[in-house]
Amino acid sequence: MAKINIKIEGIPYQVEAGLTIMEAAKACGYEIPSLCTFNHGECNVGSCRVCLVEATGARGLVASCVYPVAEGMEIKIGSPAATEARRRSVELLLSNHNKNCQQCDKNGNCELLHVATLTGARDDAYAGIHSETFLDQLAPALVRDTSKCILCGRCVERCKNAHGLGILGFENRGFRTIVSPAENRSFAKSPCIQCGQCVNVCPTGALMEHSEIDKIDAAFRAGKHVIAQAAPAVRAALGEEFGYPIGTPVTGKMAAAMRRLGFERVYDVNFGADLTIMEEGTELLHRLTEGGVLPMITSCSPGWVNYAELNYPDLLDHLSSCKSPHQMQGAIIKSWWAQQNGIDPKDIFVVSVMPCVAKKYEKEREQEKVNGIPDVDAVITTRELARMIRRSGMLFQRLPEEDWDADIMGDYSGAGVIFGVTGGVMEAALRTVYYKLTGKEHEPIELEAVRGHEAGIREATIDINGTPVSVAIASGMRSASVLLDEIREGKSKYQFIEIMGCPGGCINGGGQPYVRPSLLPNEDDDIIDTYKEKRAKALYSEDERQTVRQSHNNPQIIELYDKFLGEPNSHLSHELLHTSYAGRERFAD
Ligand code: SF4
Ligand code: SF4
Ligand code: SF4
Ligand code: FES
Repeated sequence: MAKINIKIEGIPYQVEAGLTIMEAAKACGYEIPSLCTFNHGECNVGSCRVCLVEATGARGLVASCVYPVAEGMEIKIGSPAATEARRRSVELLLSNHNKNCQQCDKNGNCELLHVATLTGARDDAYAGIHSETFLDQLAPALVRDTSKCILCGRCVERCKNAHGLGILGFENRGFRTIVSPAENRSFAKSPCIQCGQCVNVCPTGALMEHSEIDKIDAAFRAGKHVIAQAAPAVRAALGEEFGYPIGTPVTGKMAAAMRRLGFERVYDVNFGADLTIMEEGTELLHRLTEGGVLPMITSCSPGWVNYAELNYPDLLDHLSSCKSPHQMQGAIIKSWWAQQNGIDPKDIFVVSVMPCVAKKYEKEREQEKVNGIPDVDAVITTRELARMIRRSGMLFQRLPEEDWDADIMGDYSGAGVIFGVTGGVMEAALRTVYYKLTGKEHEPIELEAVRGHEAGIREATIDINGTPVSVAIASGMRSASVLLDEIREGKSKYQFIEIMGCPGGCINGGGQPYVRPSLLPNEDDDIIDTYKEKRAKALYSEDERQTVRQSHNNPQIIELYDKFLGEPNSHLSHELLHTSYAGRERFAD
């Protein structure tokens, strides 16, 4: 890329041609406040005006996030006019903002507060009427509070980019403008799949997960047996909330923290992941050998299941009937574990710690309950667990490394660990299917062909005893729809497809810590390009450290089938571990 000469505050720099002023300034070490721009131009509506600077050749102040640099340009970030203009822009945003920071779950990660501090904005500079606001709390996974929305448009772009869905858009005009699903509907009554990708990019508390911390507090107060289980992707990201560089696994400290928060048992959902592989691998085997509906599609991502029910009701037979790992493990806690410990399942309160907000919705589904009893009672995200740890006053970094509880559900294989990465469910299942069909373990254990962290479609062909099995992997609904349209048109060449709702899989779930260069002093700017890869590495390295690498070799899984379930896909397994799906109206009343 050609270089051009510019000056910032009178200091000469050479920068790449074609950059915006903000990008060029960043490359030279300056931080210009920004709110609406995001992720290398993923959102660039230029609406917030908090990035104004002076630049020669321009008339008046310019929005640095959209204005390009030019040869010989002289830029003034710190002139009195630019500084004053930026401060006023933030003060105007604050003037129509519900500033209840003390009760706001975004506090600590709020970009509006960060920018207000940077610019020296006062929250009471402008008094006046406030626009009408709306609070949508109906959806189990999400809360939308327009009183905190700054109309930056990031969520609108993210929903389109990740899924091609366009659930969110600008409604009304002028002072009455809001960002919402069509006709200001609740998320619960729109075709939103409740994935939370929009929550991940919202700079304020306008879009948040539906917190369930209060429910857990109530269960402790009620004297319930409160059992926690944590998904693999959580350990790859929780450390970010406590200052660790992205990609640092914090498994031992996480188990220690959860135990100190008061949970009676702390389990790893990896056991449930191994159980899912036993059930799903067996289901695939039956479909391959007995002429079932193919391609079979994984069903452990509730965002994807939502999408299928809303948009492809004619293809629901393709979905595996398996519940997701935390639901399976919850069902086992309330049956086998309850029996072993002599506890009435009604007195057990199961909490899942997940990288995902859609799991909050999933646990409410009637089809997931066993005799009317939910498998899981509360789901909290990685971010909510961090909030619980912070409010407890614990020093996370000083906690000892502890193990998960090991009774009945403590063993897990490396295959269970990699569930959190796109391609991981596929790889874990193929390790077991290969063994069942050939009587030998796949060598090498790793199936590199199905690995990758990027969004889009990956495909591979695995040779099993001379029979080629074609597989495909998609994450994000934009990619998934390509594979689904092929099935609909009778053109699919695959036997097995893995679909994850969030681009990159669970490591990039809607409940994971926010990744914002401006809020992450330990990371450099290109972290936006590499964080998924770094979190994925944390899981692959844990897989490599396990002595047991395949779900069918997990000794406690073998024991569970011997002593309780019988065999995979048995009658009892179906009762506890499998579910069903039904098409739904895209716009509910
Ligand atoms: S969104 Fe930010 S500024 Fe607004 S109330 Fe929450 S923490 Fe405060
Ligand atoms: S939760 Fe997902 S589907 Fe729903 S609006 Fe947000 S990004 Fe779109
Ligand atoms: S909801 Fe959040 S991301 Fe969407 S426009 Fe409002 S502030 Fe921006
Ligand atoms: S960051 Fe430039 S206008 Fe919003």
